[in-house]
Amino acid sequence: MSQLDPRNWDNFWKRANVTSMEGADFRGNYDLEILDFWKNQFSKGADHVVDLATGNGALVWIVNDLLNSPEPRSRITGVDLASTSPFETLKRRPADYPLVKFVQNTSIEALPFKDDSIDFIISQWGLEYSTLCNTIPEASRVLKPKARMAFICHYEGSSILKDTTMKLEKFTVLLEKEVVFERYLELDALYNSHTSQKGVQSDPRHSRIVGSLNQALYSIQHYIGRSTDPSINVLPKILNNLSELFAPRQPLKQPRRAKDILKLKDNVLASVARIEDLRAAALSYDECDELEALITEAGFAMVERKPIVHSRLGNVGMAFAAARGGADLNGSKIRGHSAGR
Ligand SMILES: C[S@@+](CC[C@H](N)C(=O)[O-])C[C@H]1O[C@@H](n2cnc3c(N)ncnc32)[C@H](O)[C@@H]1O
Repeated sequence: MSQLDPRNWDNFWKRANVTSMEGADFRGNYDLEILDFWKNQFSKGADHVVDLATGNGALVWIVNDLLNSPEPRSRITGVDLASTSPFETLKRRPADYPLVKFVQNTSIEALPFKDDSIDFIISQWGLEYSTLCNTIPEASRVLKPKARMAFICHYEGSSILKDTTMKLEKFTVLLEKEVVFERYLELDALYNSHTSQKGVQSDPRHSRIVGSLNQALYSIQHYIGRSTDPSINVLPKILNNLSELFAPRQPLKQPRRAKDILKLKDNVLASVARIEDLRAAALSYDECDELEALITEAGFAMVERKPIVHSRLGNVGMAFAAARGGADLNGSKIRGHSAGR
């Protein structure tokens, strides 16, 4: 179960992110094998689809394209605990998506739908943030006797988990090892107490503050130079943003600069909190088995369980698909309860 303050995701979605993967180079929305998985799930229609933990509705937009073009036919509802307003934030007109709806501030463990009313429940990197032994029975309650479920979940074999863990290490260098934000705050205080560069240079604090900042930047540059993993790119970006605040063309005294430094630090802290939450949410192989058991206990037959391997990003998650009551299986055979690792 997610321990993250829901305001963390509120702020993330308010920055108009469509996907939850910052820096993953998606043009607009998820693509390639991730998109293929969903295309395959929706080769046949469904009257009412619900996306659990929808964020800014990445999956909702994809499913809308798949099911509601050229004629709107299927209702698609995204549910999330965060107070996201995807239409407003992403500047999309509700009139262009007449059957799409978002329900905010709502836990997926207690869905605001009647019993036996939904045809298909989906989720991508969302379900596993909730308490599965509550969410799956709840999904089963609202699903019709003949219905489907499909999920892509973070799990221990995914490269997203590995990549974000490496990113965490980079943030730790900034935040804890080199305490870069505090060093820039000291420089800001020094600059703000003088009206000229000459005054700054003659301040007795100058050599200590500038010396320790340069030492920290040198260590980080050295660390960047030695690293071979792509997540290292987060560091130059943050360092550039910080040094921009002190560019020679900027006035020496800047009352707002400390706030800007703290804002950059808060963004890093928020990313750290999301990564730690992702690591806690990611399913172990045993938890993947437990999820399957919950799905089958709810009367569903597993149709597939397989890792999704994205050509650019590698293994992005474990996919699960299940059906009940003879719901259309897109030609796939029902398979027994076995673990696809
Ligand atoms: C990684 S994002 C997933 C976003 C989206 N599904 C996607 O494919 O990009 C995780 C989302 O889960 C939501 N969330 C976490 N726990 C939840 C819960 N118990 N009920 C509803 N939403 C939850 C968060 O607010 C966040 O928006």
